[in-house]
Amino acid sequence: MITYNREKRIFKLDTANTTYMMGVVDDEKFLGHVYYGDRISDDGVDYLMRIYEMPYVPTQNPRDRGSFLDTFPTEFAGSYLGDYREGSIRVRDKFGHEAVQMTYRSHEIMSGKSALKGLPSTFPGDEGVETLAITMADDSIGLEAVLYYSVFEKEDCIVRSVTVKNNDDAPIHLTKIMSMTMDMDSEDFELLTLHGSWARERQIDIRPLGYGKNSVGSLRGESSHQENPFMAVVDKGTTQDRGRVYGFSFVYSGNFIAQAEKTQFDSLRLSMGIHPDCFDFKLETGDSFVAPEVVMTYSNAGLGKMTRNYHDMYRQHLIRSPYKNRKRPVLINNWEATYFDFDTDKLLDIAREAKSVGIEMLVMDDGWFGRRLDDNSSLGDWYVNEEKIKGGLKYLVDEVNKIGLKFGIWMEPEMVSPDSDLYRAHPDWAIALPNRTPSRSRNQFVLDLSRPEVVEYVYGCISSVLKSANIEYLKWDMNRQICDPGSLYLGKENQGELCHRFVMAVYELQERLITDFPELLLENCSGGGGRFDPGMLYYSPQIWCSDDTDAIERLKIQEGTALVYPLSTMGAHVSDCPNHITGRVTPFKTRGDVALLGTFGYELDVTKISKDEVDQIPAQIETYHKYNDLVREGDYYRLASFRENHSFDCVQIVSKDKSEALIVFVQVHGRPNCHSRNLRLDGLDPEKIYKVEAENEEIITLHGDTLMKAGLMIANPWGDNVSILIHVHQV
Ligand code: GLA
Repeated sequence: MITYNREKRIFKLDTANTTYMMGVVDDEKFLGHVYYGDRISDDGVDYLMRIYEMPYVPTQNPRDRGSFLDTFPTEFAGSYLGDYREGSIRVRDKFGHEAVQMTYRSHEIMSGKSALKGLPSTFPGDEGVETLAITMADDSIGLEAVLYYSVFEKEDCIVRSVTVKNNDDAPIHLTKIMSMTMDMDSEDFELLTLHGSWARERQIDIRPLGYGKNSVGSLRGESSHQENPFMAVVDKGTTQDRGRVYGFSFVYSGNFIAQAEKTQFDSLRLSMGIHPDCFDFKLETGDSFVAPEVVMTYSNAGLGKMTRNYHDMYRQHLIRSPYKNRKRPVLINNWEATYFDFDTDKLLDIAREAKSVGIEMLVMDDGWFGRRLDDNSSLGDWYVNEEKIKGGLKYLVDEVNKIGLKFGIWMEPEMVSPDSDLYRAHPDWAIALPNRTPSRSRNQFVLDLSRPEVVEYVYGCISSVLKSANIEYLKWDMNRQICDPGSLYLGKENQGELCHRFVMAVYELQERLITDFPELLLENCSGGGGRFDPGMLYYSPQIWCSDDTDAIERLKIQEGTALVYPLSTMGAHVSDCPNHITGRVTPFKTRGDVALLGTFGYELDVTKISKDEVDQIPAQIETYHKYNDLVREGDYYRLASFRENHSFDCVQIVSKDKSEALIVFVQVHGRPNCHSRNLRLDGLDPEKIYKVEAENEEIITLHGDTLMKAGLMIANPWGDNVSILIHVHQV
C-alpha cells in the first residue's frame, strides 16, 4: 500500500482505486504534493511538482527562492517565510517571532495504525492498514512535526494527522496547526459544504471556487449547526454517479476551519484543522500537541461513491459501540409529547400505551431534575425532582421495566444554570471573562471543563444517575455554544487553550462513560444536530440529527447528513402533526417511512394521537424490524433529491451481497395530469433476478440490469407528501 522510490524520493500510497503521492525535493528537502486521484502505476513522476520549470528549486535558482516557496505544491506549509498562502503551522517562539518552515528529516512505514492520545481516531479493525510517518523539522526554533498518513485500502480512504513537538529549551506557543494541507491544480472545481442552522442542519451547498480563500468553519466551541466539519472539492456538474470528488472529513467536535484557497497560478491549497482563531497552545520543552485526524477519500464516480466510502469507513473503522451492528430498541421520547410538563403518572401512561403498540424503550427527556419546571434553572443539579417523579427515579424505572419497556434518560452534563445550587456554590466553574458579564444562551452557562474538579464533578453526577436505576440509554445534550472564552482556572499564558481543552474533556468524559458502562446506548445531541461530527461517533453510535422532525424538512437534513454519515448514526423519530416546528401536516405513514432511514423511534404522546395513527404503529415497527439490518449495513444510493428537483425524493439501500434493496420514495408535491415516473435503480447485480414488491402494485420479476438500465415505473401517487416503500429481493 505504501512504497518509497529512493532515487526519485517519492512516496506512493495506494488504495484499491486511488493513489496519493508526495516527494522530497532539493538539498533542503522540501516535502511536496505530487498527485492525488485515480490509481496510477508509476512512482517516478516528480515533474508533477513543476520543479523543472520556473522558478526551479532554490539550489538551481537562489535568486527566486521566494517564488519557489510561494508556488511549490507543499504538504506542510510554513508561515511568514515566503509562502503567502494559508500556512499549516504557526508559532510564537521565545523571541516572540511567529515564523516557521519545516522540511523533511526522515520517515518510517509501519503496519497498523495507532490511536491518537485523548482524541477520537480511526482504527484498523480486521483490515491490514499501513501508516507512513514523515518527520519534519525547523531547527532554527527547535520544532518538529510528524505527519501521519494511514492507508485504508478497501474504503479508498487515507487518514492524516500531525503531531508537533517542542524540542527547544524554552516554551513555544503553537498558534495554528492544520491537520491537512494539500495543493492541487484547480481545474474547474467547486466546493461542496454542509451549511445550516438550528432545525435546518447540514443542507448541501455548492459554490464555484473564486480566487482567494473560500472557507467554512466554526468558532462556536462545537462543530456546529452552521457548518459541518466536512468539505468536498468536486468537478463542476458532479452528480451522484459522475464527476471527480475529493472528500475531507474532520474527526473533531470543536472549532474548525475547512478551506480551499485559489491562488494566482490557478492552483488550490486545501486546508483543514482546528480553527486558528481563539487557539494558542503553550508547549513546554519536550511537550507534544496532537492534532485531530482528517479522513480523505477520492471518487471518480460522483458523490455516491464518496458517500459509500465514508459510510463503510465510519461503520468499520470509527464507531466502536457494541450497538453499531445491532438494531436499536424502538424508543419513545417524551420531549415533544410533554415538554417540561410531566410526572411519574403521565410517563407511566405513555409507557403502557407504548408497550401495547410494540415500542421497546421509554426515554425521559429534559425536566426530571433539580427544580427544572422550564429551561430557566437547575442544569448542574443532577438529582431527581421528587415532586414530578413521585417515588423517585428507581421507582419510575422499575415500573417502566415492569410494563416491559427499557428506560433511557436525558442529561446536559456540560452546562450550568445561573439558577442552580451548583452555580451558587461554584460561580467560578462557568466559562466567563473577568470584568465582563457573560452572555447567557437559553439562560445557561457552559462549565469550564479545563478545570479537573469540574470534570470529576460532572462524571460523578452522570455515573451516580446511571447507577441509581436500570438505565440503558443516555441522551447527552449540549444546548448552547461557547462564547466569552475565559477560564478562571487556566493561567494568563494558557487562555488560548480553553476551547480545545473543553473538547478534550468532553472526549475524556465520554470515554470514561463508555468504559464504565459498556452496554449503555449513548446518543449524542446538541440542540438537535449541532454536534453531528465524526468525533462524537467514536463514542456514540448515533446522534440526534435535528430538532426538526417534520418529514419533508428531514428529506433535506437527512440527505446532507447521509452524504458523509451512515444511516445507522442518524437519530430519526416520528412526531406529531401539525409539526411543532413547521406547522406542516404530513401523513403518519410518510413520517414513519422517512424515520426508517435513521435509527427510528417516536417523539409524541401516544395517549393523545388519533386512533388511526396509533393503529399504524405496530405495522410501522414491524417494517422497522424487517428492514433495519439492511438500512444499517447496506450501501446507500440516492436516486432523486427533493432539494434538487423540488418535487420528489428517493433513496435506495442495497445489501452488501446485492440480494435485496429497499427504496423509499416520497412525492412531496402531487402532480396533475402526469405520466408515471421512471426510476432507474442502482447498485444491483445486473445478472440476478429480482422480485419487486411496491406497495399497492402487482409484484413483478425482472433482472437487475433491466431495473438499472430500463428502470421501474412508479405510478403517479395522489396527494402531497405521500411515500411509497419498494422492496426488491433476489428470487
Ligand atoms: C434539545 C434537544 C431536544 C430536547 C431539548 C430538551 O433541544 O435537541 O431533543 O432534548 O434539548 O431541552
